[in-house]
This record gives sequence, C-alpha cells and structure tokens, in this order.
Amino acid sequence: MTIAVQVSRSVPAKTGAIGIPVALDGPIPASVGMSRAALKSIGFEGKREQTLVLAAAGRSSAVRILIGVGKLSTVDESSMRLIAAALARAAKKHDSLCTTLAGIGRMDRKTAAQAVVEGATLATHRYGDLKNDKDFSAKLKLLTLVTTDAASSATKAGVVRGKVIADAVCQARDFANMPPAYLTARMFADKAVDIAKATGLTATVYNRDQLKAMGCGGMIGVNKGSVEPPRMVKLEYTPAGSGAKIVLVGKGVMYDSGGISLKPSNESHAIMKMDMSGAAAVLATMSTLKTLKCKTKVTAYLMCTDNMPSGGALKLGDVLTMRNGKTVEIHNTDAEGRLILADGLSLAAESKPDAIVDIATLTGAIIVAIGEKVAGVMGNNQSLIEQIKGSAMRTDEPVWQLPLIDEYKKGLDSVVADMRNITSGGGAGSITAALFLREFVADVPWAHLDIAGTMDVRGDEGWHNRGATAFGTRLLVDLVTNFRKPSRK
Ligand code: BES
Ligand code: MN
Ligand code: ZN
Repeated sequence: MTIAVQVSRSVPAKTGAIGIPVALDGPIPASVGMSRAALKSIGFEGKREQTLVLAAAGRSSAVRILIGVGKLSTVDESSMRLIAAALARAAKKHDSLCTTLAGIGRMDRKTAAQAVVEGATLATHRYGDLKNDKDFSAKLKLLTLVTTDAASSATKAGVVRGKVIADAVCQARDFANMPPAYLTARMFADKAVDIAKATGLTATVYNRDQLKAMGCGGMIGVNKGSVEPPRMVKLEYTPAGSGAKIVLVGKGVMYDSGGISLKPSNESHAIMKMDMSGAAAVLATMSTLKTLKCKTKVTAYLMCTDNMPSGGALKLGDVLTMRNGKTVEIHNTDAEGRLILADGLSLAAESKPDAIVDIATLTGAIIVAIGEKVAGVMGNNQSLIEQIKGSAMRTDEPVWQLPLIDEYKKGLDSVVADMRNITSGGGAGSITAALFLREFVADVPWAHLDIAGTMDVRGDEGWHNRGATAFGTRLLVDLVTNFRKPSRK
C-alpha cells in the first residue's frame, strides 16, 4: 500500500497533521504562531529537512509539523524530494497529512508536485508483508497538497506523474526485497503478466522449451543447475504514432548462488535475492508508460532464472551458443548475468531499435570502482550515454561513465570458443563485463547500467528505506519519456 494523494484549495476539515514549510529566510507563516527568535530558541531554524512537531492550535485538531526547507532560493526538484521525505517521515504515525509544500521553490508547479509525491511516497513505503509488528509500516494513507487556484491544474498533473512513478518504484522495491521462495522466475513472470494487463502492455512469456527453440543458450545454460524453470518476459508498449523505438533489457537472476563457482555464505550472499533488481526496474518502468502518455515505443525483455549449483549445473569449460550464434566458454559460473543478458540483447538488436539499454546488478567490481551511491554506465554510443546522464541528474539516480577500453577485450579470448565469460585477471571487471555485452548488440546504439552497488541501502536515508532501492526505475522512466533518437556514434 502506498499513499493516496489529492489536490485541494483548502485544508481538509479532518486531517491528522499539517505540514508547514518554514524557510531559513523570509517571514514565518502566521499559522506557526511563533516568531523566528522563539523558534530558534527551541532549536528550529528551518534548515533543510529539519522538523518540529507542534500541538494543534485554534479550531483544528491537527498536529502541526514544521518542515525546514533551507534557503527558499535553493529549493529545487532534488531538495524538494528530500524535504517531502523528511516531512512524511515526521508524519508517519498520522493517517493523513496536508501541506502547502508543493507551492514553494522556483521550479514549475508540476515538477514541484511530482517531487513532493515521490519524496513522501518513497520515504514511507516499506516491504512489511512478513513483519508481525504492525508499527513497522507507516500509518500515512492520504496526502493532500493544498494549492492556489492558479497552480491547481499543474499540481494535479504533477501528482499523476509522481504517483504512478513512485508506486512503480515501491512495487520494484517489494519484488527485490521478497525472499527468493516468494518470487521465483515463474511467479515473477505471472506478476509481470498481471501488471501488463493492468497497465496497457502486451506480455509474452517464454518457457524453457521455447527459449531452447529460440537458441537462447545463455538462459538455458545458467538455468541448468536450478529446479526452478526459467522465464523470459517480453513486454511491449505501443503508442499511437511513429515515435522512436527503444528496447530495455533487465537482468532477472532471482537468486544468484554463484552456481558451482559458489559464493561464500556471508552478508553479500543473502542479498543475492536482489539480483533481479534490473528486471524489476524495467517492469516498473514499463508499468508507467501508458499513464504518462509516453510517445516512445518501448519493448522490454526480463531475463529471469536462478543461478544454482547441482549435478546438472553448468560446468567450467562448458561452451554455450548464444541467441546471436556466438559461442562462450564458461570460466566462472558466477559471471552469469552477462550470459542471460547476451540472449536478451541479441533479441533486442534483431528488431533494429533506435537504442537498447540494459540494466543489471552485474559486477561486484563496480562497487570497488565507484562505490554504492552511483551506478556505472557504459556503452557504444556517446549521444545515448549523454541522454542517460541527463536523466540521472534529473531523477537523482546518479551514474558515472566508465570507458570501454578495446584492448581489454583480448582478455576474453578463448582457446575453443569465440570468447570466454570472464578474463583471467587484469582488473576492470565492470568494463570487461560490458565489453562482453557489446558483442551482442550488433551496431545498435546501446548503453549498459551496472547497478550492483546501488541496488540496496543499509539504513533509512532521504527518500530511501533500508533494503532494495529499485535504482534505475525513475531514471529509465525519465529516459524513455524524453527519448530522442541518438545520433549514430
Ligand atoms: N550478481 C553478481 C554481482 C553483484 C555483486 C551484485 C554484489 C550485487 C552486489 C554477479 O552475478 C557476480 O557474481 N559477478 C561476479 C563476476 C565475477 C565472477 C567475474 C563478481 O562481481 O564477483
Ligand atoms: Mn553471479
Ligand atoms: Zn548475478
């Protein structure tokens, strides 16, 4: 459950809490009933994300929550999201919250409302299905944005956009947080079909036999050790008109044990249920497009399977033939993401779209290189990468580009096959993984997002809560809804 949002020109008669924005500068709103000096004496200056709860006053029974916004002139889309998150956290024990927050700052009212809805929704949503503690989930069910007449229609438009995007992110977070037994490839495919039906997409599910017949050797190979069969889900969003066409490919490893190259049983092993975060972000993105009236034609491939060891599992030295005919010698079964993406990228390239973007929790090496607060981006087309950087900036889902050094490709040479799935040493594991992927996109403009570092957070921070982040969902929504055909090269 996420928060319902409404737009109103006045404070509703019954509201649990009223959020009053207070800046570091300018006058204090009359409803606060205190001077700046008095507020300061109890430690509230109006610094960004600072909150102060005051008892109800006057005829209203609503608790007043002062929410600091910092200097008024500094409030932008990104700080607005954080401010709304702080306000919603402070109001989480109330069933309803009403605020004029979306009326401040210098951005347009649609952008402001979208940011407030995103911040409030994302900061209060938690995956609570398996918790007995009823206080674990926020009580907040209704957010009312109070606006002037003039701002009303833009605010409403921002609410629609913010709501559909934030709800999709919450859904993707839930999928990634779910234990592996609660979300197998089959279950995920079933849910994707339900979501597709509800959001105006066409869905086609491919089972093991179909994948085999299609020559998807990567999917079949990675799935070999698992008792759970694989699924590939193709989703299609087809708007009217002849807009640009983009294909998204998501890594959906429902659980990555490493296969016979077994991972150690440490903390990092337990979060490998989140190795389907790329596929979840792609599904979530797709679910928003009709509501957002996206003009770009978007096709998605969710590549779903476990990676498990067993008597039937993939062995080192085995050679797989991928969908595009290239042969790959396995040198580490834990480098499985690139094997399933290879088939998805090949299929994507066959349809000759204007661009392909894949998103994957692909390498631990990306964490070594750039840490956990930024995702890696690589690709064969700078114009596409620049669009991704723009979307990343706007959505606060930061990316950093790494170079595809052609010389490193030598490390993937195999004695018996076209290439091997890992290099033997040489470092730059995220780059060599991307070089591997590049072999499957033909000459289509392509970019790859490595979200291994950003897939989860350890604590509640800003508009994130401990656990899965669904990183990339908001970035991809921004990308596909603003997409322009990249120039060739
Ligand atoms: N799913 C992992 C990458 C990962 C690591 C995701 C940490 C999230 C957090 C991927 O399949 C993997 O195991 N990669 C190997 C590649 C190596 C064998 C070349 C890795 O990073 O160790
Ligand atoms: Mn792995
Ligand atoms: Zn993996």
